[in-house]
Amino acid sequence: MSSVPPQSDRQSLTDSQTGSDVPHAAHQAVSQNMAKQSVLHAEKLSKKVTSGERSLTILHDLSLSVAAGESVAILGKSGAGKSTLLGLLAGLDTPSDGELTLFGHALSRLDEDGRAALRAGRVGFVFQNFQLLPTLSALENVMLPLELSPRAGETQTAAQWLARVGLGERVDHLPKQLSGGEQQRVAVARAFVADPELVFADEPTGNLDPDTGGQIIDLLFTLNREAGTTLILVTHDHALARRCDRCLRLDHGRLEPFVPSAVTNEEETP
Ligand SMILES: Nc1ncnc2c1ncn2[C@@H]1O[C@H](COP(=O)(O)OP(=O)(O)OP(=O)(O)O)[C@@H](O)[C@H]1O
Ligand SMILES: [Mg+2]
Repeated sequence: MSSVPPQSDRQSLTDSQTGSDVPHAAHQAVSQNMAKQSVLHAEKLSKKVTSGERSLTILHDLSLSVAAGESVAILGKSGAGKSTLLGLLAGLDTPSDGELTLFGHALSRLDEDGRAALRAGRVGFVFQNFQLLPTLSALENVMLPLELSPRAGETQTAAQWLARVGLGERVDHLPKQLSGGEQQRVAVARAFVADPELVFADEPTGNLDPDTGGQIIDLLFTLNREAGTTLILVTHDHALARRCDRCLRLDHGRLEPFVPSAVTNEEETP
């Protein structure tokens, strides 16, 4: 198993990022330095898959740096590769080409166990299809990340998180006894329960009514502001995207800057 060096403290990740008025000759060193200071640095990531006899390039030479405490929205049409990208950025999937550096560690140097150890307690993920374990209750699902990174008061912490997402009365329910929106909120609670530094959320409000979705969004940005949690969100919702520090659009396998519509609640056409 690959060993993971000790967890760096949060302060080292929140050091100020390099300014843009750096002399030209220093650019390369600055770029390397930024890669170290970023929570996440993707360098020329590509993802190719084969389907039958056809080869499909989903992501192509895609580069991205995300600083500690930043909130980034990723938009794009259905099938553009947003979920694929999120899985790669979180180290859940491996690129066909390129390198991903997470918390200063090049993931290509770690095996699957090493990547899992690096993520444990530091990375939360809200899957588009929730991925709750069907035989576990809502509370047990939320407790899962705490079991990977044990600490005192697990049950109480998980119950508090379910209450924060409005499910304090549903702790004993199995996923099949919950609505789609309730399952999504369990997934949000599970992503945040271990107090991660970095959270990926794939359309975290896609199954929620506007009021409930608004409450979850408020919760995400409160944590971003108060705990410094870095957020990388996939969304079709321009109102949610506008609240992020930076918006990017995935198109033809590449990321480009994007300005979300000023019209409230406008959604990208899937
Ligand atoms: N393992 C795979 N084999 C073949 N094709 C795949 C595979 N994984 C993803 N794809 C294809 O890659 C494309 C991107 O999929 P992805 O789920 O990342 O899109 P998305 O942008 O998240 O879409 P949505 O907004 O509908 O969730 C799709 O056309 C999908 O069919
Ligand atoms: Mg998707």
